[in-house]
Amino acid sequence: MSFHILGTGSYVPPTVLTNDDLAQIVDTNDEWISARTGIRRRHVAADETTSEMAAKAAAAALENSGVEPEELDLILCATVSGDYICPNMACLVQRAIGASCPAFDLNGACSAFLLLLETAAAYLSTGRYRKILCVGAEQMSRILDWTDRSTCILFGDGAAGVVLEPGDNYLGSELIFRGSQELLNLPTAVGTFPGSRLEPQHPYVYMNGSEIYKFATRIVPQVIQQLLDKTGTAQTDVKWVICHQANRRIIEAAARRLKDIPAEKFLMNIEDYGNTSAASIPLLLDECNRAGKFQKGDLIVFAAFGGGLSCVASLVRW
Ligand code: UT7
Repeated sequence: MSFHILGTGSYVPPTVLTNDDLAQIVDTNDEWISARTGIRRRHVAADETTSEMAAKAAAAALENSGVEPEELDLILCATVSGDYICPNMACLVQRAIGASCPAFDLNGACSAFLLLLETAAAYLSTGRYRKILCVGAEQMSRILDWTDRSTCILFGDGAAGVVLEPGDNYLGSELIFRGSQELLNLPTAVGTFPGSRLEPQHPYVYMNGSEIYKFATRIVPQVIQQLLDKTGTAQTDVKWVICHQANRRIIEAAARRLKDIPAEKFLMNIEDYGNTSAASIPLLLDECNRAGKFQKGDLIVFAAFGGGLSCVASLVRW
């Protein structure tokens, strides 16, 4: 036994930053950003925090699921841009929505939402918990260097999540990890200890874009194929693919490699949100769910990659 998705929810802040708006901040233009990434606009949180967005997404997911906060047995959250390192975001969400269950975070950058599903599936299959809320939320605008045009144009803010109960619809997962901080990192403070030999680092997202691009275009189709092989699923059986929305060209490259999954099955909303890291996959899932895109029994592949480095795919039956 694993899980069944009871419902989904999301929230994005109202302020929208278009590519033209960005061109007022750094030396860039709409043509470059659209052609290289597929992004046209992103939402940014000007006056609310990550946990406030997470709580709004959580409330929407609970409402969509018909579950009351006090029925939750566990809250799992993921973020790299939380209000605090301590307390974790899940505790802030617990208080904001009026729940009283255990609550903790996982750190998995852009792959984190799929790690929440993996963790929730393990708990639900033991019978320890019966209702789990999983939320990914990010305020990337707060951890970007807005003078670095190669990173600040890529990301957006938002939050989204799901409510899970025991069921048979988590059919498998594949996890590839390659521990490395060189290509993608977000340093923490080094403190003021007078004897410290640690050098203070730039406290913003650092990314070697072209190397991450090469990693992603190779690893995403690989992890999906490994997942399909492991679960005995043919490419032709896959109804939808929900990839981490980092770059339209990465998703299109994966689609080209997975020849028997038609390109139109790879769902996308990157144009409107950019890369929202841990919120990216559940944001697209919620959008499609509310649009009535999924039929009962549809096989959906999720695939994410990110800092770690990591690449995770999972197979869910709707
Ligand atoms: O979830 C986190 C995972 N991260 C990612 O998925 C990011 C993966 N990487 C990418 O998506 C792409 O590598 C980028 C979109 C970041 C960059 O695209 P690229 O095609 O790899 O471009 P590039 O880095 O090779 O840069 C090409 C040129 C450079 O100019 P020169 O050296 O050729 O003169 C850059 O300086 O584009 C220039 N450039 C820009 N020009 C206008 C870089 N950023 C910008 C910009 N506007 N914002």
